[in-house]
Amino acid sequence: MSKLHFPEKFLWGSATSSYQIEGAWQEDGKGESIWDRFAHTPGKIIDGSNGDVACDHYHRWRDDIALMKELGLQAYRFSIAWPRILPQGVGVVNQKGIDFYSRLVDGLLEAGITPFVTLYHWDLPQAIQDRGGWPNRFAAEAFIEYTDVVTRALGDRVKHWITHNEPWCAGLLSHQIGEHAPGWQDWYAGLAASHHLLLSHGWAVPVIHRNSSDAEVGITLNLYPITTGERTSENLTAVRLYDGYFNRWFLDPVYGRRYPADMVEAYRKAGLLPAGELDFVVEGDFEAMAAYTDFLGVNYYSRSVVKADPKGGPFPVGDEENATLERTDMGWEVYPQGLYELLCRLHFEYQPAKIYITENGASYADAPGVDGKVHDTRRRDYLRGHFIKAHEAMAVGVPLAGYFVWSLMDNFEWARGYTQRFGIVWVDYETQVRIPKESARWLQQVIAQNAVE
Ligand code: FCB
Repeated sequence: MSKLHFPEKFLWGSATSSYQIEGAWQEDGKGESIWDRFAHTPGKIIDGSNGDVACDHYHRWRDDIALMKELGLQAYRFSIAWPRILPQGVGVVNQKGIDFYSRLVDGLLEAGITPFVTLYHWDLPQAIQDRGGWPNRFAAEAFIEYTDVVTRALGDRVKHWITHNEPWCAGLLSHQIGEHAPGWQDWYAGLAASHHLLLSHGWAVPVIHRNSSDAEVGITLNLYPITTGERTSENLTAVRLYDGYFNRWFLDPVYGRRYPADMVEAYRKAGLLPAGELDFVVEGDFEAMAAYTDFLGVNYYSRSVVKADPKGGPFPVGDEENATLERTDMGWEVYPQGLYELLCRLHFEYQPAKIYITENGASYADAPGVDGKVHDTRRRDYLRGHFIKAHEAMAVGVPLAGYFVWSLMDNFEWARGYTQRFGIVWVDYETQVRIPKESARWLQQVIAQNAVE
């Protein structure tokens, strides 16, 4: 195959998040987060681990920047731990927390790496949780105070801001399914939390612009193409509902369409709305949530195969039988074509001004071999397949401006602890030694040539 060249200004980067890599959970005045609390609760994390130390990035950030520079990465997406900045969530500012990120940003800029900052990647201050957390509107107000503090401090140097990472996870996976902190299992709370996350996104946009001139602001969503086995009428309804639950519930309000009416009706009919309506919505919320954004961040990993619930329940269920593709260690199907389908859909249906893939990558356990190298061929193939599909999407007009690989290094994979390795760099958790995997060396070449072969 001939070389596929990417546009001249296309940005190649890697991504991480604060709780997953920083460690130093109690250092320099940092407050407790809901992930500290959750991971310290027995039974919540599959291997009983936590992010107390993680990749010790809080102390090793200089080396990590040097590594990124060596790999030729042009951009770095990381998140800020809110409880480092405001240990109680609101009120007193912890200057040491600000200093840490300020040094990190300076270090990146010196290395010629563009910082993309995510304001919220799930580590809510426990103090805000104690006041009701995201299901309470107060969290959205507190987020604005935090956003104001951070963007005042870093807005002169950071010009790419992401308000939230994956509000579906922070809202529903965390409050309805209960797999993530704070581990609730309450549909209504999940929808209320999602609402306040989206609302706080919308409220934050003008605050960021005020404090960070000429900055780009966007939100990152986890999105999936949804499909089914046999296209019966019931199964197609299942596809529509699942799409509404994961994708449209978040895309529609961000793009000015309010919540999808079919989903509101489905939730009401299923008895999930005690008042029979979305009573957490206040006048003006939809206008705020639809604030103009400069880009959409897309996290893409896989597709979802669903079917109508054979037990007659109101919501779709996963269709394992028809999910037949090769899988990563997370159990997620490898489906590069889905990235093409998704990007095209977003472009044709929602017309975001610009798109960045803010996460894409794969979990494979490949460890250093006798030669000391990590031959993660499957990760390289996974990335290559997805890069090609991103290129194809650009050829039909999708305004894709950059691509961030998840993740720079192996790290704490939430409820899966350290059992999943997503890094292009191997981390030895005993010694904290980092070894760039074969995929990292391959990516280095892709970036140098700005092309995939
Ligand atoms: C996404 C998260 C990220 C990482 C990847 C594997 O949902 O944003 O932190 O855990 O999945």
